[in-house]
Amino acid sequence: MSEIEKIKNQFFSKLEEAKDLEKLNQIKSELFGKNGIISNQFKVLATKSDEDKKTFASELNTLKNDLQIIISKKVEKIKIEEINKKLENEKIDVTLPERSFRIGKIHPVSQVIDEISSIFSEIGFSVEEGPDVENEYNNFTALNTPKHHPARDMHDTFYLDEDKKTLLRTHTSPVQIRTMLKGKPPFKIIAPGRTYRSDSDQTHSPMFHQLEGLHIDQDISMGHLKGCLNYFIKEFFEIDKIKMRFRPSHFPFTEPSAEVDIGYEIKNDQIVIGEGNKWLEILGCGMVHPNVLKNVRVDHKKFQGYAFGIGIDRLAMLKYGINDLRAFFECDYRWLNHYGFDPLDVPTNYRGLSK
Ligand code: DAH
Repeated sequence: MSEIEKIKNQFFSKLEEAKDLEKLNQIKSELFGKNGIISNQFKVLATKSDEDKKTFASELNTLKNDLQIIISKKVEKIKIEEINKKLENEKIDVTLPERSFRIGKIHPVSQVIDEISSIFSEIGFSVEEGPDVENEYNNFTALNTPKHHPARDMHDTFYLDEDKKTLLRTHTSPVQIRTMLKGKPPFKIIAPGRTYRSDSDQTHSPMFHQLEGLHIDQDISMGHLKGCLNYFIKEFFEIDKIKMRFRPSHFPFTEPSAEVDIGYEIKNDQIVIGEGNKWLEILGCGMVHPNVLKNVRVDHKKFQGYAFGIGIDRLAMLKYGINDLRAFFECDYRWLNHYGFDPLDVPTNYRGLSK
């Protein structure tokens, strides 16, 4: 077998077996590199006699061309194979269903706090906050609540120490004290927040929400209190007319004190606020007791005013037709999904009330 034929046989099968570009490049340099087999054969050509040169040169050139064609075809084939493999592996199945995602909902209590805050801010109230863990002084003593008052009882209040000095605030009224101690009159604030009492049934939860209001200035009377609450209730329930009554009551921190009821009736199984002969209690209020003003070093001869405390959860239940208070705090996503508010689409219209 001639040298040319040997090379041909050896490399044709080598090329046949080559599976990747790296191997092909290696074969290529074995053949055509500086000291490659074909390059060397061209050196051999120079040593041939004139007679042999012609046939050898023609065989060698044919072999060279054949090998080059095979190599470039093979390169092309391998490249296409690689692209196909890549496409196969990186395939995106556009028919797959998207992964589901949930949009969070605004809790009705947060929604109602926002609504109430914006209603009061329109008539000049600013928002104050106080801590959930309060001291006995701010929660009771400064609010003129005597030592024997039943609210101080262990059965009612969550104390955090044996001396009964620290507690979970039982109402938002201590924010009145904090606000007046740190500033100078006039004061016109609301304070929404969590409050705690040892109580639990369908209408009571050990943690609930209140909103405190306080307006202290010169010449503030019960007339201002009435006007303010009348405006608030109409705005909150989005109605033009409201039936409201002040019932005498007692709170240690106000004198006189009153509870406010609003008129309602049931129509087609729904509560309609503002009409009818039934009464619903919604808040406590009164003129701030001079002792409270003395405790916070406000001149009670010069300044006076009113305060009120609203149960936020109750208002949320009324406005949005929610029956069980405990569901507010059970963190059931299905409940929140039903009663919660879309953060991007908060309704401004009154939705009607159910029993
Ligand atoms: N703190 C009272 C309560 O929790 C509610 C209240 C009544 C607040 C009268 C007031 C008020 O500011 O003037 O029952």
